[in-house]
Amino acid sequence: MTDQSSHATLMARRSRTLGPAYRHFYDAPLHPVRGQGVRLYDAEGRAYLDAYNNVPSVGHCHPRVVEALAAQAAELNTHTRYIHPKIVEYGERLTALFDPALSQVMFTCTGSEANDLALRVVRAVTGGTGIIVTSNAYHGVTADLAELSPSLGAANPLGAHVRTVAPPSGVDGGASFAAEVRTAIASLQAAGLRPAALLFDTVFASDGVYLDPPGCVAGAVAAIREAGGLFIADEVQAGLARVGSHMWAYERHGVVPDIVTLGKPLGAGHPLAAMVIRPDLLAEFGAKTRYFNTFGGNPVSAAVGLAVLDVIRDEGLQENADSVGRALQDGLATLAQRHPEVVAEVRGTGLYAAVELRGAPGTAGQGISWLLNDMRRRGVLLGSCGSHGQALKIRPPLPFGEDDLAELLTALDEGLSQDGLCHILGA
Ligand SMILES: Cc1ncc(COP(=O)(O)O)c(C=O)c1O
Repeated sequence: MTDQSSHATLMARRSRTLGPAYRHFYDAPLHPVRGQGVRLYDAEGRAYLDAYNNVPSVGHCHPRVVEALAAQAAELNTHTRYIHPKIVEYGERLTALFDPALSQVMFTCTGSEANDLALRVVRAVTGGTGIIVTSNAYHGVTADLAELSPSLGAANPLGAHVRTVAPPSGVDGGASFAAEVRTAIASLQAAGLRPAALLFDTVFASDGVYLDPPGCVAGAVAAIREAGGLFIADEVQAGLARVGSHMWAYERHGVVPDIVTLGKPLGAGHPLAAMVIRPDLLAEFGAKTRYFNTFGGNPVSAAVGLAVLDVIRDEGLQENADSVGRALQDGLATLAQRHPEVVAEVRGTGLYAAVELRGAPGTAGQGISWLLNDMRRRGVLLGSCGSHGQALKIRPPLPFGEDDLAELLTALDEGLSQDGLCHILGA
């Protein structure tokens, strides 16, 4: 059942049953039926190069992850109220990847739940409610998080306790980021609100991917601490080897967060997320309240998390993200030189990159939308980022190899040369 009519029928059933709040990618929605490594295959057997998905971190359907999941599911699945060695072992292995100050972990199923828990902790520990986020941040699906996710748009008003700051960009981005955070702190205080936390995605993905220069977030982190607040590093997008040079993107900046939230790549497709934290903060939170997440940290998830860590180590995926990531950033810089009429800027580190198009953000956003569809027709999957979707988002699974990169760059070179794109951008 792979023909167009069955595809159209499925689309109709999907919208009839799932309703209008779900979106799909591409003008011609993709219907993959199988995944392996960095490839997705549609119902007709066509292969697509996945240069977009960070959730299948170690590659789609990695056999070691699938095997670990199936074996544990066949033996026992319970929850964190019973003792299980895999939950403890996974916690030990995960926290060992952090600075010694961040030595405890709590498990959740999604990045949203991890951020939501972090909010509860900072409120309980600081006694404050004020939260500072970036101007196009996205931090998750709960009502609390929607209130501090400006990227959801004007129909989702921000909370009165929320202040936004521009992400750091440009050579003096660190100074302006720190200055904006200080202004936001003053604004909260003027409203009688105690600052509880500065919360940002450590690659500023939805803002458009801003990673440089290393160290540019340090002044802002110092500012929130001076004001009695905490720094929550949202590593849901950035974490687990993707930046190549480090396991976690915040490490590039030489700062140690008070709390780190994790999600997407931890389970390579399985819903596994976590909050890593300083034990003194958790002691205070734990003394005041309890936390039970029915599925968070179950033994099957723990087995999956362990297998993902094993694969990253055994297949040298951080080293791969570093070396192929450097080649990716160099290759994109070369493309930017070849297509100066359409490319405004290339940003990124490791296997996380953004290519911003020229023109007003709205027009560039239309250009990216055109380019994404064009690349899909060429068999390459990519995404967009920025307040108007004006930048291409490149974020492949970690085993992305040199041949995959060559394929991506060739396709992108062709896509950026098309009259259709130049026409939209007026180039
Ligand atoms: C930076 C960031 N934080 C949190 C989340 C929420 O994670 P989840 O969708 O697993 O709830 C996302 C999801 O896109 C994200 O990008």
